[in-house]
Amino acid sequence: MQKNCKNIVILTGAGISAESGLATFRGSDGLWNNCRIEDVATVEAFQRNPEYVHAFYNDLKKELVKAKPNPAHLAITRLQENYPAAVSVVTQNVDTLHEKAGNKNVYHIHGQINQAVCLNCGHILETFGDVDTQTVCPLCGVQGMMKPNIVFFGENLLCMNRVEHLLDNCGLFISVGTSGVVFPAASFVQIAKYNGAETYEFNMEKTSNNFYFDRHIYGPAGTTLPAFVDELIKNREDSPQDPESA
Ligand code: OAD
Repeated sequence: MQKNCKNIVILTGAGISAESGLATFRGSDGLWNNCRIEDVATVEAFQRNPEYVHAFYNDLKKELVKAKPNPAHLAITRLQENYPAAVSVVTQNVDTLHEKAGNKNVYHIHGQINQAVCLNCGHILETFGDVDTQTVCPLCGVQGMMKPNIVFFGENLLCMNRVEHLLDNCGLFISVGTSGVVFPAASFVQIAKYNGAETYEFNMEKTSNNFYFDRHIYGPAGTTLPAFVDELIKNREDSPQDPESA
């Protein structure tokens, strides 16, 4: 491990929220074992049956709003506050546990459960309340055009300009709790590695794209990530942050 890595990018997936009591997608009791992607997470599903899709995300929202951040989320805040490098979080999670933990520079590439986007004017409505086919856009006043701001299969990821810049300038890439089967997020490690980053994976088990990681740390992220962060902070060399950094 280098001393004082410049620009740390932390990619997170559902596994980081597992110890907050939230289901992952592909675990034994995962979301995608209990419902079909084709029914709730594709553009076609939303066009075919928007009421059903809204109801699914309204229910999920009720679940996610109650969740509290766990030591893995809190470790990221500690790193951001105590390490002399820019630390960015690129999350596939639609929950808001990074924000609840106080993480800064969080990029939700798969959207956020507490947002809906107006398909008429692009306005983003922030709400933890229900959204449905009757909802009126507060900006353009059109009814029935709000879509959960969740990236469905077949749609582009969000914030990608910024994320590409971060990956191009990344010194340490850390992946936490993602199975690495959904692209393009699964390819971020490869991009970071080709750009010279050290690459670390935190997971419970070996993943399908583990080839590009320099180190694997297996175990619950709520234990392994705080220990790793403590080590980074202990070994840091104090220096002012590079103004050119991300
Ligand atoms: P997955 O459910 O595919 O993978 C979760 C990963 O977390 C698995 O590799 C687990 O081994 C690991 N894991 C579980 N508990 C853990 C713990 N306590 N500590 C560390 N690791 C743990 O979830 P994602 O990779 O996030 O997209 O799935 C990617 C995308 O697929 C999601 O963002 C979602 C889904 O379709 C959208 O909804 C757009």
